[in-house]
Amino acid sequence: MKKLVIIGNWKMNKNLHETQEFLSDFEKEYLNNKRKINKKIEFGIAAPFTNLFLLKDKIFKSVAQNFSNFDSGAYTGEVSASMLKDLGVSMVVLGHSERRQYFNETNEVVNKKTLQAIKENITPIVCVGETLEEYEAGQTKDVIAKQLKESLAGVEDFSKVIIAYEPVWAIGTGKTATAEIAQDICSFIRENTSKKVVIQYGGSVSPSNIEELMSQKDINGALVGGASLKADSFIKLLTLNK
Ligand code: PGA
Repeated sequence: MKKLVIIGNWKMNKNLHETQEFLSDFEKEYLNNKRKINKKIEFGIAAPFTNLFLLKDKIFKSVAQNFSNFDSGAYTGEVSASMLKDLGVSMVVLGHSERRQYFNETNEVVNKKTLQAIKENITPIVCVGETLEEYEAGQTKDVIAKQLKESLAGVEDFSKVIIAYEPVWAIGTGKTATAEIAQDICSFIRENTSKKVVIQYGGSVSPSNIEELMSQKDINGALVGGASLKADSFIKLLTLNK
């Protein structure tokens, strides 16, 4: 089996207590299912900042959902790369469509953060994806090409980034892109970036569809929201529902 990177994106869910509960459930489920989890699957959780310290030195990667493109200083409310590294964070989700939609995160901002992450040795997971209107108007590839060009400007080594293709119409809606659509766009992303880049698919990934999606040639992992919130469901993602 090829190497896969599966990351749970918790968004703004789970307080400290709920995170502790998840971790103890996850540990039990992991031990019970260990034989079924392929060693080639690398996995992690993108938790809210307040819970990241609980993920330090655990079996999964600790992932942030955002960070500042500045090093340090007078930026009230921001969290820097070095603060995250100190907590053991090794990856950061950037340009998620919810950040683009609700927090005005433009390609330009995503680009600054991507370069900052690479500089700081944190792997950026750069999200791209079209809206429903763009999809229906047949503009998917144009939209993705622009997002890639602008968000990844100046990136020289694509082994240092992960790209997540997340069609906005598939996020949290239960409407997954078919494996064919997902493969077609992920192959387009590879052609427009680099052969060696890790490309994830995201948008209503669940235990029932993960195996088919992950078997596509140009899909190297998944960014999973809803189905990553419960330990038993998260484990089923890692066993590819076996
Ligand atoms: P979903 O979210 O799996 O709940 O659709 C995916 C994401 O937003 O990364």
